Amino acid sequence: MDTQPKGRVVLVTGASQGIGRAIALRLARDGAKVGLVDLKEEKLAEVKKEVEALGASATSFVADVSKRDEVFAAVHQVERELGGFHAIVNNAGVAQVKPLADVLPEDMDRIFRVNADSVVWAFKPLRPSSRLGASKVRSSTHPPPLATKACQYASAGITVNAYCPGIVGTDMWVEIDERFSQLTGAPKGETYRKYVGV
Ligand SMILES: NC(=O)c1ccc[n+]([C@@H]2O[C@H](COP(=O)([O-])OP(=O)(O)OC[C@H]3O[C@@H](n4cnc5c(N)ncnc54)[C@H](O)[C@@H]3O)[C@@H](O)[C@H]2O)c1
Repeated sequence: MDTQPKGRVVLVTGASQGIGRAIALRLARDGAKVGLVDLKEEKLAEVKKEVEALGASATSFVADVSKRDEVFAAVHQVERELGGFHAIVNNAGVAQVKPLADVLPEDMDRIFRVNADSVVWAFKPLRPSSRLGASKVRSSTHPPPLATKACQYASAGITVNAYCPGIVGTDMWVEIDERFSQLTGAPKGETYRKYVGV
């Protein structure tokens, strides 16, 4: 099948800011119709305007990607309003900087629900001939079997890709940097600079 974004309907989760926003804008420039999902309603509305300003059709949906029915509802809105559903970029995610000894059951539950469960809920509405973008499966946040399960979709003509962004200077990293400063006493910005090598 043609795998170019032009004319395709792509849903991007975590689209209100950072990497998700950048992906949404790039898809719009490349001619896709873009569905936008996030918890942050106001920022999401701004990104929708930015996508439309590039001449692309867009729809936005406030949803918590860890909740199956909210993901399904977002997909249905995208299909209804943009006339199809060809791909999803499972970008929404959360990070946590905490010493291992202090990690609580509720931390594990939150991280797995947002970073791992959400990918499973996004798989379910996909049909043959869809193209699926899954965020990079990392051992820290995703159970390895999840990656192998993605292979089940190959026979249905669904492609699963992974992206691995490395360190990107988004709001997520502002928080990570601040947390490292609290834990280690490092000056603000130093941890980020150390990891990106500048
Ligand atoms: N920034 C980096 O260096 C980096 C590195 C590796 C991986 N990643 C991953 O890339 C993705 C995007 O990262 P970012 O830096 O743009 O992060 P970010 O925190 O700036 O943006 C994440 C977006 O996801 C949304 N989100 C979080 N939980 C959600 C939920 N339950 N339901 C719906 N939306 C939710 C947030 O509201 C936010 O708009 C994340 O999955 C992150 O783990 C980022």
